[in-house]
Amino acid sequence: MPSAAAANWRKEQLAIVSTVCTATRLPVAVKLSPSYTNLAHFARRLHQAGARGLVLFNRFFQPDIDIEALEHVSNVLLSSAADLRPPLRWIALLEGQVPLDFAASGGVAHGTDVVRLLMVGASVTMVVSDLLRHGPVSCGSWKRAHWLARTAQLRLRAGLAGLHEPAALPRPGRFERAQYVRAISTSPAGSALGTHL
Ligand SMILES: Cc1cc2nc3c(=O)[nH]c(=O)nc-3n(C[C@H](O)[C@H](O)[C@H](O)COP(=O)(O)O)c2cc1C
Repeated sequence: MPSAAAANWRKEQLAIVSTVCTATRLPVAVKLSPSYTNLAHFARRLHQAGARGLVLFNRFFQPDIDIEALEHVSNVLLSSAADLRPPLRWIALLEGQVPLDFAASGGVAHGTDVVRLLMVGASVTMVVSDLLRHGPVSCGSWKRAHWLARTAQLRLRAGLAGLHEPAALPRPGRFERAQYVRAISTSPAGSALGTHL
């Protein structure tokens, strides 16, 4: 129903999750797209509907256009490093705010990506594009990062408090949009941009 109001979509999604969660004792994780108006609110509603975890995020199939053949192209576009940022940011924002477990999906290509996602609160990370690119052989290098992941997670739980500071506090939360101001004022690219603003 492409023309349905977003609220109706969300209502229907919550009803589906509730039905599934009632029908099984297995913990249900819901995989979401990054395109929700208020993801934190919807995450809470999903928890109330019975979900125990979120997979952040799904990347939908996105066709391209062949300008010579004048037709659409349905090839698979694999993830890039930039795709890691949305799950990293949103897991950091939601962790501790909603009683759900988080699985990170998108842009994971190195063991160090796993470490970063675990540090902000992911319970697990998922990988598709990297396996399609390099095959199962890439998994060998991931194991070397395992000890680092465990250490990093312990370190975060023990002491990196402040990672989830809300934006309302004098020092903006590290994953809130207000950090743009700091990024622009401190990075060389940002300084160059600033001269043109
Ligand atoms: C060829 C291909 C098929 C996929 N099929 C599914 C699917 O059936 N269900 C699903 O939830 N996600 C599917 N995805 C999305 C992936 O699970 C994953 O969320 C996305 O690729 C981002 O992770 P990545 O950066 O590791 O590729 C598919 C991705 C690719 C590339």
